[in-house]
Amino acid sequence: MMVVGSDHGGLDLKEGIKAFLGSRGIVFEDCGTDNGDSVDYPDFGERVARMVSEGAAEKGILFCGTGIGMSIVANKFPGVRAALVTDPFMARMAKEHNNANILVLGGRVLTEKDAREIVAAWLDASFEGGRHQGRLDKIAALERELAQSR
Ligand code: RB5
Repeated sequence: MMVVGSDHGGLDLKEGIKAFLGSRGIVFEDCGTDNGDSVDYPDFGERVARMVSEGAAEKGILFCGTGIGMSIVANKFPGVRAALVTDPFMARMAKEHNNANILVLGGRVLTEKDAREIVAAWLDASFEGGRHQGRLDKIAALERELAQSR
């Protein structure tokens, strides 16, 4: 299952991408926000990242104005590999090399057309494993080490 979420700065792009996901028959849950009132991106980033971190969702897409705030929040969560992406090449690499489980998009950066191409590239790519898995293992080891030292 996929989960999506945004603040007010990413709301319009999220709505456009929700329509795109629907057209591809992808089932998703929307964690909000659902109107244009100003909200705090950490609140909505947390909802999505927690679901992915805890296994309640397999992957997610987060949207804010630039994508920067949502990236910072999401990558606090163990097991989350959130990638802020601005073109389809980065999106493909984010899956093939980084196995990104959360895609982050900037609603004030991307057109909806660009974002659709980015989401499609991420969804259609596959993690390559091999040497890239070893690198992700190092990240996971760092997560464990840092959690123990706090
Ligand atoms: C909200 O104005 C804006 O700061 C937010 O959407 C995001 O761009 C933060 O990184």
